[in-house]
Amino acid sequence: MKITVVGAGQVGATTALRLAEKQLAREIVLIDIVEGMPQGKALDLAESGPISGYDIKITGSNDYAAMAGSGIVIVTSGLPRKPGMSRDDLLKTNADIITGVSKAIKEHAPDSIVITVTNPLDVMTYLTYKVTGFPSGRIIGMAGVLDTARYRTFIAEAVGASVKDVQAFVLGGHGDSMVPLPSYTSVAGIPLAELLPADTIEALVNRARNGGAEIVALLKTGSAFYAPSAAVVEMVESIVKDQKRILPCTAFLGGQYGLNELYFGVPCKLGKNGVEQIMELKLDDAEKAALHQSAQDVLENIAKLAI
Ligand code: APR
Repeated sequence: MKITVVGAGQVGATTALRLAEKQLAREIVLIDIVEGMPQGKALDLAESGPISGYDIKITGSNDYAAMAGSGIVIVTSGLPRKPGMSRDDLLKTNADIITGVSKAIKEHAPDSIVITVTNPLDVMTYLTYKVTGFPSGRIIGMAGVLDTARYRTFIAEAVGASVKDVQAFVLGGHGDSMVPLPSYTSVAGIPLAELLPADTIEALVNRARNGGAEIVALLKTGSAFYAPSAAVVEMVESIVKDQKRILPCTAFLGGQYGLNELYFGVPCKLGKNGVEQIMELKLDDAEKAALHQSAQDVLENIAKLAI
């Protein structure tokens, strides 16, 4: 499969590297507006092939037409956060960028599955859906795998267990109102509540909620990119290999969880057709209330764009 990454910055270039190292594509294209930069990074990546052991055509371009024939397009173009900024502060600028990129995808890669990474994620994914006019299952946002990975990291540290044994789900919007679900969190099958006291779990939940901002504050220029790119690649792998993994993704809701006409973080089955099924979890009243509050925040942002 040919995979295009739009935006060859921190997240985009690291995603391309991970895709190449996992050999998930026959051809990888990097597209960016900065002249020479995607070409330079693509050449550098291609020259890593003989050492890293991959044999993949990797090219860079400033022309959106280079994405033609792509099975998957990953969209990372847009501004990242600076310290003190929320993801929503990026709304207007990134909406203009995403509108342009989505028109190009519609024109040049009309059969592709699109994975959106640009923030504010839920709104940008919805905007991509609207501008491309693609079936909703072919537009997917990356947020839940990343948020869950952060949450799993903190749980593993607190329990003193391997991250591999921590299973968890984080639902809702990718932002301060994300909804981690302690009731669906376990370590090697042992419910989290049997391993940690409630106040410790609450502290871990809060740290996961602010996981992105914690990194922005440390980096000072730019935002996280190692874990975000790893999360994208896990989603791509499930699609390319038709693995049907159930991963938390930002997907279109048409009535599920009592929510309509928005993109929102829910467990999804990912296969060769994109989102093939949305899994509806049983939630308690507090979780339901948190999820609906989170949806309200996303809907308010969608309303700001007037799409
Ligand atoms: N078309 C293509 N590329 C573009 C466009 C455009 N219209 N506008 C901007 N870009 C490019 C920039 O030139 C830059 O190289 O997008 C790239 C973004 O890269 P970084 O600034 O390094 O940002 P990054 O850390 O990769 O984050 C990208 O993902 O996680 C989110 O919040 C983050 O919205 C941000 C996005």
